[in-house]
Amino acid sequence: EETEQDRAFQERIDRKEKIEPKDWMPEGYRKTLIRQIGQHAHSEIVGQLPEGNWITRAPTLERKAILLAKVQDEAGHGLYLYCAAETLGISRDEMTEMLLDGRMKYSSIFNYPTLTWADMGAVGWLVDGAAIMNQVPLQRTSYGPYARAMVRICKEESFHQRQGFDIMMKMAQGTTAQKKMAQDALDRFWFPSLMMFGPSDKDSVHSAQSMAWKIKMNTNDELRQKFVDQTVPQAEYLGLTVPDPDLRWNEETGHYDFTEPDWSEFMDVIKGNGPCNADRIEARKKAWDDGAWVREGLMAHAEKRRAARVA
Ligand code: ACO
Repeated sequence: EETEQDRAFQERIDRKEKIEPKDWMPEGYRKTLIRQIGQHAHSEIVGQLPEGNWITRAPTLERKAILLAKVQDEAGHGLYLYCAAETLGISRDEMTEMLLDGRMKYSSIFNYPTLTWADMGAVGWLVDGAAIMNQVPLQRTSYGPYARAMVRICKEESFHQRQGFDIMMKMAQGTTAQKKMAQDALDRFWFPSLMMFGPSDKDSVHSAQSMAWKIKMNTNDELRQKFVDQTVPQAEYLGLTVPDPDLRWNEETGHYDFTEPDWSEFMDVIKGNGPCNADRIEARKKAWDDGAWVREGLMAHAEKRRAARVA
C-alpha cells in the first residue's frame, strides 16, 4: 500500500535528491541498502584473501609493495562501506555475525582460488575492472553516504585495475611459460568475472525496485555487456584469447555477442558450495575470534575515558 509519505519519497528520488541518514525512508529502502552496502563491504574484506595469498610470493620487491598497498586499499573500502551501512541503523558487529553465519552474502568471485602470479594480473584487470563498471554509476546512487564512499573507492579501483593490466602485459609479453600462465588465468577468471554482475535480468529479484529507488543505476545485463565490450579489445591488445568460441562483434547491435556464464555454477557458489567458500568464511571467523581481545580492550579504554570525563 503506497502512502503519501512513500510518494513524497519517490518524488525526492526522481528529482535526484540525495537521501541522508536522518531523513525519513521506507523500511524496504533501508533494508535493501543495508543488504547491498553490507554485502559490498563484506566483498571488499573477503576480497583481500585471494590476493593476500600472493603477498609473500610476489616476484619482486616492487610488485610486493604494490600488492600490499592494493590489499590495504580494499580493507579501507570495506571500512568506509561498513560506516555507510551503520548510518542506516545496523552495527558492523551485527553485519559481521551475519556474514559468518551465512545470513549475508559477499561477491561470488572471491570463492575462486588464485593459483599463480598471473592470477594477480587477472584479478586486478578483470575483477577490479568489473567492480569499477558496477561502481562508477553508483557514485550517483540516491543514498548520500553510499554515493560519497563510491567516489573515493572508484579512484582507487581504477589504479588497481591498471596495476592488474600491467601485470598481464608483463606476463603476456614474457616467456612462453609466462604467456601460458596469463592465458590460463584469463581462462579461469573470465566467466566468474561475468557472474559478478549478478543473475541475468529475468532472474534478478531486486533490480526493478532497486532501480526505481536509484539504489542501482543499471541492470545486471547492461553492466555485463558494457564490461564485455570494454574488455575484449584489451584481451586482443594483450594477445590473449577470451575463452568463448561464440564471442563475436555484432555490427547491428554495436556490441559483442557472448556466451552467458553457467548460472547453475553461480547459484552453487552463492549457496556456499564454490571451491573456496568454506576457506574464506573460516579465515574471516578466525580473524574475528582472534581480534576479540582488541575489541574488548578498545571498549574498556573508551569506558575508562568516559568515566574520567564525568569525574
Ligand atoms: N555474488 C554473490 N551474490 C550475488 C551476486 C554475486 N556476484 N550477484 C547477485 N547476488 C545475489 C544477490 O545478493 C541476491 O541475493 P540476496 O537477495 O540474498 O541478497 C540474489 O543474488 C539475486 O540477485 P539480484 O536480485 O540481481 O541482486 P542485486 O539487485 O543486489 O544485484 C549486485 C546484485 C549487482 C551485485 C548489486 O548488489 C550491487 O550492485 N552491489 C554493489 C556492488 C558490490 O557488491 N560489489 C562487490 C564485488 S566488487 C568488490 O568488492 C571488489
